[in-house]
Amino acid sequence: MITYRYAEGQTPLDEDDIHGLIPNIVTQKDLDTFEQENILMAREWLMNSSTLRKIDISEAFIIHLHKQMFRNVWKWAGKFRHSNKNIGVDYFNIPTQLRQLVKNAHYWIENQTYGTSDLAIIFHPRLVKIHPFSNGNGRHARLMADAICAKYGGQRLTWGSKNNNLKPEVTRKQYISALHQADKGNDIPLIEFAQS
Ligand SMILES: Nc1ncnc2c1ncn2[C@@H]1O[C@H](COP(=O)(O)OP(=O)(O)OP(=O)(O)O)[C@@H](O)[C@H]1O
Ligand SMILES: [Mg+2]
Repeated sequence: MITYRYAEGQTPLDEDDIHGLIPNIVTQKDLDTFEQENILMAREWLMNSSTLRKIDISEAFIIHLHKQMFRNVWKWAGKFRHSNKNIGVDYFNIPTQLRQLVKNAHYWIENQTYGTSDLAIIFHPRLVKIHPFSNGNGRHARLMADAICAKYGGQRLTWGSKNNNLKPEVTRKQYISALHQADKGNDIPLIEFAQS
């Protein structure tokens, strides 16, 4: 049985989620490694030219991306959660909220409301706020923003990794604080953070 450790702002797993673990592993470190390897494969798949052509801002693609990122680790990869978490909308509202977000993004694109990188970054907190899946929402919604940039020609996002003098905890604090501000309607700190 793994003792799960959670960094600031992570969603704890419930019993049902834990039963969906595919590999036979016992430590958090192994779990992290399995997840990282799967995500690396997903990133390679995503940035492949044939996938790049298929990227689109749709519920189907959002689900498919989560499946690609976690399919070797969690049985519920690519499936919406069935319980409420400390973050996120009520689970039964996930499909309608996601539909609305996708519609908004298409409206922003058609009306050129934002530049590409800004649009991709602004999509991120709105997706992570819905919190469609039991876990992996942060990494998934960051990769979804990367996908939007790659598809529509935005700058590559760095998510606070440019300054490697900063401790990971400091960068994490900046990220969570920027998300809080985005929740309150100020997207600027996250736009800056994602490109720093
Ligand atoms: N107060 C908050 N407001 C909005 N979003 C938040 C808040 N706290 C956390 N989040 C988001 O939720 C994510 C954590 O959810 P979850 O554990 O499902 O994702 P994860 O990919 O496993 O986490 P991580 O980002 O640490 O890799 C954070 O990465 C962040 O994006
Ligand atoms: Mg998590």
